[in-house]
Amino acid sequence: MSQWAAVVLAAGQGKRMHSFIPKVLHPVCGKEMVRHVTDAVRQALSGPVVLVTAPGAEAVRQCLGEGFQYAVQEQPLGTGHALMQADQALKGRASNILVLYGDTPLIQGETLGRLMAQHEDSGAAVTLLTSSLVPPEGLGRIQRDVLGQVAQVVEEVEADEAQRALREVNGGMYAFRADWTWNALGRLTPSHSGEYYLTNLAAMAVREGLPVSSVTSMEEMEIFGVNTRVQLAQAERAMRERILNRWMLEGVTIIDPASTYVGAEVVIGQDTTIHPNTTLRGRTAIGQRCEVGPNSLVYDSTIGDDCKVVASMLEEAVLEDHVDIGPFSHLRPGAVVEREVHIGNFAEVKNSRLGAGTKVGHFSYIGDAQVGKNVNYAAGAITCNFDGVNKNVTEIGDDAFIGCDTMLVAPVKVGERSVTGAGAVVTKDIPSDSLAVGMPARTRKRNKQRAAENSLS
Ligand code: UD1
Ligand code: MG
Repeated sequence: MSQWAAVVLAAGQGKRMHSFIPKVLHPVCGKEMVRHVTDAVRQALSGPVVLVTAPGAEAVRQCLGEGFQYAVQEQPLGTGHALMQADQALKGRASNILVLYGDTPLIQGETLGRLMAQHEDSGAAVTLLTSSLVPPEGLGRIQRDVLGQVAQVVEEVEADEAQRALREVNGGMYAFRADWTWNALGRLTPSHSGEYYLTNLAAMAVREGLPVSSVTSMEEMEIFGVNTRVQLAQAERAMRERILNRWMLEGVTIIDPASTYVGAEVVIGQDTTIHPNTTLRGRTAIGQRCEVGPNSLVYDSTIGDDCKVVASMLEEAVLEDHVDIGPFSHLRPGAVVEREVHIGNFAEVKNSRLGAGTKVGHFSYIGDAQVGKNVNYAAGAITCNFDGVNKNVTEIGDDAFIGCDTMLVAPVKVGERSVTGAGAVVTKDIPSDSLAVGMPARTRKRNKQRAAENSLS
């Protein structure tokens, strides 16, 4: 039998969200609320973790993947009833149970660790995590006796005026002694609303003369629960601040935290600077000494060291080291940019590899292309990759010079060191060391001297 197991309750209807998707799947800083919670749980314990979900909540399973057990609560009859659904999965498998709600994304593993330690040290039947740092509205209030011991948790809807005035609230994270709890849950009676409140276990333990203990959350907002979209935005703001503070403390300069949005799963290297009005999202990783922004959007992309991205958008793109981009360029999925590439303004790159040292200065499109090293891709050049039915590939050899306004009508290849003249419409492959001019482009063997005369900058 393992010492600890955890149960995350996520079967509520989330009515107050007015949403077609389960409440716990709403993201906070780009990561589903329930995943924030299960990640914190995983930091605190390695025993079994059971998710209680509503029937048909396949999306929650998909979101969390392997490593969890699931129990279904057929009807949302309250948090006490929800925990009861996990007894099959856990009875006899753990001596203590950590219980959390799936809608409290700001909880941290370290705090759960403190809750568990206090529970063990105090020998309590129930240990509550409480806080006096969050706005109490909508939360259960902690009522203590004259000795300061927890007497009961009063839900707001059932609280009288004096109880509502209490500032200490129930965080919705608990440690329970398992044997007592499985039995006590069966003795819960419904509240006025008809729901079985898990919180009533505190008063029940007190009535039975069992110790009830508590731990206080130190960080403002840590136990904040999300029931409405207004609270979702409040949680987002708190999480955003936590993420930004963490990166700043690890050596990232954030010029204006108020206009910088960094997702929960983003990684940023030391001495990188994030300029205002910039969003980094998804599985983005940024190297050291980069400058990102202002006005940049980076989604699910990898950026090497010493890169610069100004007023540009990157989606599922990969940049090696010493790349500079922007302003006003767009790298779409599958863009792989090798080291020391320069991409200036109004360039779009999709599903293409650009070799080291290549320059794409102005107004251009590169789609489904393999571009070699040290290619000069001049103003207005584009790959005509789509013939209306298929996406076709363009290949450009190392050291080629693609002149201004060249149309590369794919599928087509431009050989190494070849040059296209301004306005060339390239419909046929160009061998290496050649010059192609006109519409449709005709190829001539390139004489080094003539090439120099013809070269366009
Ligand atoms: C609950 C607590 C309250 C505490 C607050 C902290 C109760 C009765 N009240 O209130 O004291 O201050 O959380 O955020 O527990 N759920 C189920 N099945 C159900 C009902 C709820 O799985 O039948 C799940 C929900 O998905 C949610 C969690 O339990 O993740 C809490 O439910 P919610 O309705 O949000 O409770 P609160 O009103 O926030
Ligand atoms: Mg809630």
